[in-house]
Amino acid sequence: MKTENRRAYISSLAHYVPEEVYSNQFFEKRLDTSDEWIRTRTGISERRFAFNKGTSELMLPAAEKAIARRGIDKQDIDLIICATITPDHVFPSTACLLQNKLGIKHCWGFDLAAACSGFLFALETARRFIESGAAQRVLLCGGDRMSAILDFEDRSTCVLFGDGAGAIILEASDDPEIGVFDANLRIDGAGKDFLYMPAGGSAKPPSAETVANKEHYVVQDGRTVFRAAVVGMADVTAEVMERNNLRAEDVAWLVPHQANMRIIGATAERMGVSSDKVMVNIDRYGNTTAGTIPLCLSEWYDAGKIQYGDRLILSSFGAGYTWGSVYLRWGIK
Ligand code: ACO
Repeated sequence: MKTENRRAYISSLAHYVPEEVYSNQFFEKRLDTSDEWIRTRTGISERRFAFNKGTSELMLPAAEKAIARRGIDKQDIDLIICATITPDHVFPSTACLLQNKLGIKHCWGFDLAAACSGFLFALETARRFIESGAAQRVLLCGGDRMSAILDFEDRSTCVLFGDGAGAIILEASDDPEIGVFDANLRIDGAGKDFLYMPAGGSAKPPSAETVANKEHYVVQDGRTVFRAAVVGMADVTAEVMERNNLRAEDVAWLVPHQANMRIIGATAERMGVSSDKVMVNIDRYGNTTAGTIPLCLSEWYDAGKIQYGDRLILSSFGAGYTWGSVYLRWGIK
């Protein structure tokens, strides 16, 4: 049922990262790179890889924990959205696989591909379903098994990414103090040539030639993407703050996509937010694409660092280009 004051809020959350830790030394031993280069250029010290898992297997433990924490019957979930660019298969969707693994009987769902902005795009989508009354409880998972699409001989990309996933449950509340208040999301396909996977889709189906040419891996023009990310992420974030009359001191946490410490720093600086209010775990996980933001939220929540009513700004930039910013107030007491 649609009600006037119905707003979507995060009622539970959890995360999962593989146990296997790969430090920068792992790459130092194999490639012409150094721990010093990786740390100073990106902020990354280590990341997790799960070489024998599909993304649904990263999402499953996070989803199970989020449901258990909420104390609800899993059958009360009526919509599953999986944000990922590394689905287990092109089809069926990861949402279908997850639904089956969880044993949820009466729900529907789908995958959403917006690269590093996947979680924010899915959050805004889920929010609309909740606000309209079309869904009561959404399970939203964001995560990627980036190791599946990395060229481990390309030092300019393989050192940047990691595997991991987060899960949230989104529900309705009529408490005016909490929930998702605003979202400012963008796409621009002019960025398509600067961060992409050349083959494997319908434009260039897999063949012996595409495999031999290593066309099933991430290709990135790092410098171009860096420049676009610094401007894009800071712009949409500043707009969200302005149109919600938020000053830096009103914001409890900036939750930026974890692609590069320097991009995170530039966004925080534009907002006027001090570094102690910025969630950062890129040093431990690298860029887990759709996983970074829910991973941050879940870790900070576990550590008791997010309080009821806290104002959070979530921001991302990724392949497409896709980018955006979401303003929410924390609803878990
Ligand atoms: N070790 C040592 N040297 C390296 C490495 C490495 N791992 N990688 C690149 N280099 C070299 C380059 O070859 C280059 O050498 P050259 O000057 O002789 O040509 C030099 O280091 C500098 O390269 P740059 O690309 O200019 O380095 P930069 O400071 O820009 O850092 C980086 C590269 C980290 C990739 C940065 O550009 C970046 O973070 N870009 C944005 C990433 C991003 O936000 N992506 C979007 C999200 S991801 C998604 O949506 C899936």
